[in-house]
Amino acid sequence: MTEITALLPPLVPQIAVVQGASRGLGLAFARLLAEGGARVFATCRRPDRAEALAALAQRHADLTVLPLDVTDESSIVMAARAVAREVPCVDLVLNCAGLLHADDQQPERRLRAVRPELFARSFAVNAIGPLLVARELEPLLMRSANGLFAALSARVGSIADNRLGGWYAYRASKAALNMLVKTLSIEWARHTPPITCLALHPGTVATDLSKPFLNGSERRVFAPEVAARRLLAIVGAATPAQTGSLVAWNGETLPW
Ligand SMILES: NC(=O)c1ccc[n+]([C@@H]2O[C@H](COP(=O)([O-])OP(=O)(O)OC[C@H]3O[C@@H](n4cnc5c(N)ncnc54)[C@H](OP(=O)(O)O)[C@@H]3O)[C@@H](O)[C@H]2O)c1
Repeated sequence: MTEITALLPPLVPQIAVVQGASRGLGLAFARLLAEGGARVFATCRRPDRAEALAALAQRHADLTVLPLDVTDESSIVMAARAVAREVPCVDLVLNCAGLLHADDQQPERRLRAVRPELFARSFAVNAIGPLLVARELEPLLMRSANGLFAALSARVGSIADNRLGGWYAYRASKAALNMLVKTLSIEWARHTPPITCLALHPGTVATDLSKPFLNGSERRVFAPEVAARRLLAIVGAATPAQTGSLVAWNGETLPW
């Protein structure tokens, strides 16, 4: 993708749900979609602590903040019901919540560091959560003429592309997410009109998730707005023929 393409405004769907919008890429997606005129439902697990998102909602009457913790199934059900009370369909669902490290848990550099707790949390947030979001928003996506479900994955979740090793829980949970997106794409391709499913790799983005691991040697690190704009251009141009693939920020289809 050229720099000129990166400057193009994103193609904006009419009604979007951004899951995991308190900060980082999710917040950037919510901002770009709201500024583009979309009706946006931005979810996060603690709206009372999501100050930047609350400020965004103050500026955009068409942006609604809803509580949703992907590890709490009932909160996903409640959020989907709240969306259904407001709109007849959803055109775009963007799953952004992701876990690489927590205060008490760092990604594993070697086998000795593997802990079941980090595995369980990583799978809950990175893989099972987006699938439950898909399950609960399915009826609304099915009523859209161009429904698209996207999940922020990562190149490190590609089995074929794994050259460095390490990060067992994150890699495995993103590989699981990729499989779930692929599996969902097969089921939803049978629907009329089909719902397109994509796993997205945003590149390396300067957020809280990547910060501890940036050492200045990276070839490129994107600002969240830049990465989100590029991915929205990809999502806006996506066709049902692309469903079930892992697409990077530059439009490249990555191997599973
Ligand atoms: N940054 C990168 O370089 C990079 C590269 C490849 C892929 N990605 C992927 O891109 C996505 C966004 O990452 P980011 O860089 O924007 O990360 P980030 O700045 O660390 O934000 C992570 C988001 O996930 C939310 N979250 C965590 N656990 C949650 C839960 N149980 N329920 C709901 N939300 C939860 C956080 O909410 P709270 O504010 O409540 O904690 C926050 O909004 C992730 O899936 C990540 O794996 C990022």
